[in-house]
Amino acid sequence: MKDLRGKVALITGGTKGIGYGIAQSLLTQGIHVAITSRTCEAAAEAAKKLNEFGNDSAHAIGLEADVRSILSQKKAVKKVIEEFGKLDIVIANAGLGHFGSVTDLTVEQWNETIETNLSGAFFTLKATVDEIIKSQGYYISISSLAGTNFFEGGSAYNASKFGVTGFTQAAMLDLRKYNVKVSTIMPGSVSTHFNGNEPSDKGAWKIQIEDIGELVVDLLKMHPRTLPSKIEVRPTVPPSAKN
Ligand SMILES: NC(=O)c1ccc[n+]([C@@H]2O[C@H](COP(=O)([O-])OP(=O)(O)OC[C@H]3O[C@@H](n4cnc5c(N)ncnc54)[C@H](OP(=O)(O)O)[C@@H]3O)[C@@H](O)[C@H]2O)c1
Repeated sequence: MKDLRGKVALITGGTKGIGYGIAQSLLTQGIHVAITSRTCEAAAEAAKKLNEFGNDSAHAIGLEADVRSILSQKKAVKKVIEEFGKLDIVIANAGLGHFGSVTDLTVEQWNETIETNLSGAFFTLKATVDEIIKSQGYYISISSLAGTNFFEGGSAYNASKFGVTGFTQAAMLDLRKYNVKVSTIMPGSVSTHFNGNEPSDKGAWKIQIEDIGELVVDLLKMHPRTLPSKIEVRPTVPPSAKN
């Protein structure tokens, strides 16, 4: 995408954390942004704050849409088209994690993780694919390093993120014939509200949300002929690497 000004983006789960950081970066580039949330109030509040980052040519709207519902996501896409007339960029970001041994993990925790992280990413593409084929746009999923490295206590989260990585790579092969770009970003630790975390100075070694925003802008600006389809990104010096 040569000129990002005036493009339109939909980010699932943009009320805080990585989705919010990406929304800030896109608005700064003059891209209109719709963010979604499970609640109308959180979406509206975040959109209001985000509009401080917009400029005359770009603004944000907040929409209630649960990624676990294809119907809810289709309604959100309809509202995006009513507001902005098109859709160029889709970021399947919404996600959560339940961690613990398989001996303790409940069926409800398993289902919520898979439905949100994996089915959610599929429903996001399903609800937007006609629009991004029309605009020759870009779909980016936020997977995780947990989508390639498994760890103790990570069975549900690993299963969901390995799924997101595989799903996105296969979708890339399906959609490139339409000149639609598809990538998955696989971050290590990012300073967000994930899993009850409170961002603070203690997390200064982690990737910050604006760093992921910058990475997304770099991907969008890349020459149309070139596609980084799977991007691992990690803190340069995590505590485990210190002498
Ligand atoms: N933080 C990390 O270290 C890290 C590393 C790798 C990958 N990731 C991935 O990055 C993505 C964003 O996580 P984060 O770290 O930014 O977490 P976060 O700060 O907790 O933000 C999560 C966002 O997802 C939204 N969300 C959750 N369930 C949803 C649903 N069913 N429908 C719609 N929105 C929903 C939340 O919105 P509401 O609460 O307003 O509904 C919120 O905006 C996730 O996919 C996560 O797996 C995170």
